[in-house]
Formats: sequence, C-alpha cells, structure tokens
Amino acid sequence: MTAVMVFHSAYDDFDAWQAALRLHLPDVRLSRAEDIADPADVRYALVWKPPIGFFTAYPRLALVINLGAGVDALMARDDLPDLPITRLSDPDMARMMAGFVLFAVTRHARDIPALERAQRQKRWHYIHPRDPGSVRVGILGLGELGLRAATECARQGYRVSGWSRTPKTVEGVETAAGLDALPNFLTCADILVCLLPQTPETIGLLDAGRLAMLPKGAVFINVSRGSVVDEAALVEALQSGAIGGATLDVFAVEPLPETSPLWQMDNVLITPHLASIALAESAARQIADNVRRVEAGEPVLSRVDPRRGY
Ligand SMILES: NC(=O)c1ccc[n+]([C@@H]2O[C@H](COP(=O)([O-])OP(=O)(O)OC[C@H]3O[C@@H](n4cnc5c(N)ncnc54)[C@H](OP(=O)(O)O)[C@@H]3O)[C@@H](O)[C@H]2O)c1
Repeated sequence: MTAVMVFHSAYDDFDAWQAALRLHLPDVRLSRAEDIADPADVRYALVWKPPIGFFTAYPRLALVINLGAGVDALMARDDLPDLPITRLSDPDMARMMAGFVLFAVTRHARDIPALERAQRQKRWHYIHPRDPGSVRVGILGLGELGLRAATECARQGYRVSGWSRTPKTVEGVETAAGLDALPNFLTCADILVCLLPQTPETIGLLDAGRLAMLPKGAVFINVSRGSVVDEAALVEALQSGAIGGATLDVFAVEPLPETSPLWQMDNVLITPHLASIALAESAARQIADNVRRVEAGEPVLSRVDPRRGY
C-alpha cells in the first residue's frame, strides 16, 4: 500500500513539491486533503498554517513536517498532535537567506541608500568606502539561518558577532549567549541583524530600551519575525535618527498596513517577507530522510521542541 503525505499550504506550489518528493520518496504519494479517499492512508503531513482541527482527521499520522523554518504559527496552536514535528532544514534555504542578509548589510555598509538619493538628484556624491573590517555586524540567532548569514558576512570581511540562547563557538565570529550578554552585544552592533525565531521569550525582545542600546545611527535588519521588535519604538528610533536606517522583511502585521509610517520613511527598505523560501528540490531530501527514520523507529532530524518554541 502506498503511504500518503497530506499537503496544505496557501503559498507553496503543490506540483513542485509533488515532483521533488516523487524522486526521493517513490513509495509515498503527496495529496491535497480534498483528494484523499481514506484518511487512514495518511502517515505524514507537509503543512504551512493548516486550518485548526486539520490533524485530527488522520488517525495513523506519524510525522508532521512544517513547510518552512519558522514554526511559530504551528507552536501557537493548541491542536498539535503528540507526534514528532520537524521544520525544514535546507542548506539552499540558508544560502538564500545568507545572500539576502549580505545584500542588506552591504547596502548599508556601502551607503547605497545615500547614493540612490544622490542619483535621483543627478548629484555625483562620492562617499569613501569603509573598510568592511571596521563595520561591526551583530547577528541575533545563530541557528541554521543565522549561522550561515554570520559566516557569509565574516567571509566578506565584516567584523561579525553572533548571539544565541546557548553558548557557541564559530570560527571567525565572536559569540555571546543569554540575556545577560545582550546589552553589551547591542552596544557593539553598527548593523544589527535579527534571525531569532518567534517564541514566548523573543516576542518584544527588542523593546525601546534595548533598541536605545544600539550605537547612534545604527542600522537594523529584520528577516525573522516582526513580533521580536517593538515596531512603534522602532518607528520612533528611525524618526529621531537614533537608528539610522532599516531593512525590514517582516512585520508585526503582514501585509504591512497602508497606515504604517514605515512606508513613508526614506531610510527604510521594505520587502514583503521573501528573504528566503523553502525550495522543494533541496528540502525533499531532508523530508525523505525523516520519513525513513520514522518508519525505522529512529529519531527524526531537525525536530522542533514545543516546550522551547523552536
Ligand atoms: N523572512 C524570511 O523569509 C524567513 C525565512 C525563513 C525563516 N525565517 C525566520 O528565521 C528564523 C530563524 O531560522 P533558523 O532556521 O535559523 O532557526 P533555528 O535554527 O531554530 O535557530 C534559532 C536561533 O535563535 C536562538 N534563540 C532562540 N531563542 C533565543 C533566545 N530566547 N535568546 C537567544 N537566542 C535564542 C537559538 O539559540 P540556540 O542556538 O542556543 O538554540 C538559535 O541560535 C525562523 O524561526 C523564522 O522565523 C524568516
């Protein structure tokens, strides 16, 4: 009997995932919920924000795969089955994120916004480039995405430091861990990159007080979740110049409401939550590996810990 993997996502391309998974899991059929004749055939769920009650329909479900790296939407619900839950762990997704972070860091480090303004005024505005080694980039979160972003930035010569919950050693990156180390970390970040997951501990972590610890005119890049920063405090800091500029890919409310003052700020670049995406072809390998592990009774990789929230 062919096992079924039920698919739910309003954003991802079913056909692309079906084609990618067929190569790595020929014995598993990917199906949309409405095309499943017998719910008892379903062993796995590949989902992004499924409706409440979704999982209860499948009595033989053995594995839930979150169709992305961020699991906050899944962790926030109270109908999660007591089963292994994994997030996508995909080197191509990490590379894509690192590319976006490097673009955003370099855009600010090389004063591109000022050059764009000068171009609009037909002004030849020479700004002597800074040595990347003089630019301190602080990365909050040294997980799969943060770590890759940190090493890519370090490779470009930036002076990179990273902050995580538990201590880490990363070649070419200064590291710090835990809340006690956060104030010192923030005071040393000319460019702060947020790659923390949304958890009960990180919601509102970057409040007005912590934003004020950044050096005057620092740059803020948020590519994780909008809820990690107090958006009103960020707006105020951007208006006063305490924070000199920002690249924001994520927001407290998405799509960002028309009424948000962020839209009008010429020191802010807004992108609509697209810094990185799950890529079917490369992620399918990891999914196949975890499916085999479940069937062999082995522990799955990239398992989410609901108590920790990520
Ligand atoms: N904008 C986009 O397009 C996009 C795309 C994909 C993902 N994302 C976001 O990016 C986030 C990060 O992804 P990831 O794969 O790197 O996550 P991850 O592998 O789960 O890593 C999370 C990192 O954050 C640290 N952390 C968690 N809670 C903390 C706390 N309370 N204090 C200090 N550090 C803490 C962890 O510390 P430890 O290492 O000590 O555990 C870890 O280093 C996702 O959760 C998602 O929200 C955004």
